[in-house]
Amino acid sequence: MSLFAIGDLHLHFQSELKAPGQLREPVWKDHEAVFRRNCERLIRPEDTLVLAGDHSWGRKMAECGKDLDYICSLPGRKILLRGNHDMFWDAKKTEALNRQFAGKLFFLQNNYAAYGDYAIVGTKGYTFEGPFYLRGGRIVDWDRAEEEHAQQLVEREAERLRMSFEAAKADGFSRFIMFLHYPPTNIMERNSVFTAMAERYGAEQVIYAHCHGERRFHDSLEGRHHGVLYRLVSGDYLRWEPLRIL
Ligand SMILES: [Fe+2]
Ligand SMILES: [Fe+2]
Repeated sequence: MSLFAIGDLHLHFQSELKAPGQLREPVWKDHEAVFRRNCERLIRPEDTLVLAGDHSWGRKMAECGKDLDYICSLPGRKILLRGNHDMFWDAKKTEALNRQFAGKLFFLQNNYAAYGDYAIVGTKGYTFEGPFYLRGGRIVDWDRAEEEHAQQLVEREAERLRMSFEAAKADGFSRFIMFLHYPPTNIMERNSVFTAMAERYGAEQVIYAHCHGERRFHDSLEGRHHGVLYRLVSGDYLRWEPLRIL
């Protein structure tokens, strides 16, 4: 039994492609077919695949059906995180999605999923992404109003993550793998409310996505930091090969 993760599939089987770069960059060419082949090679029926957000370009469920069908048809158990582009997933309707896709997909928000004696916990997360103002290649300032707004979203997501940890703890779990769509820290930080929570609950790994395009691959923590292993799993970074987490 293995646990795999990847993020940012950005599928568009029945919706408008909103990132033209996805057509130009070679890594995105036929990425749905490349990813399916890699999954079929690596993932067995008893394995679990966590998809760390940004599943579909569709703006509503009616534009995402084929994208979700594609995900359903991949091998293994599938757990989905909410990405910033997942407009079909109303934050208040996670339970309804879990009823609708029962036995096919599990939507991770304010809840958790058991994986052996581990709890898979997670939320979308958030982090301040600028604008930053540069001089001589160094950040000298940033948009303070935007940062304040971002802080509110960070706090809301931190509360959702806390609920996920607490739900798992209440059921007796003490080993955690923590998932975020956004990176746990912004480009100026080494610590955040999310890294603090990972440390407080003793998460063994923090897995995140969202950073795609080569310029962004090293925006946040990688490797061990305060005893926690941080790993980026955006699809183009992994060249569409799901990363084995456990
Ligand atoms: Fe993305
Ligand atoms: Fe994203």
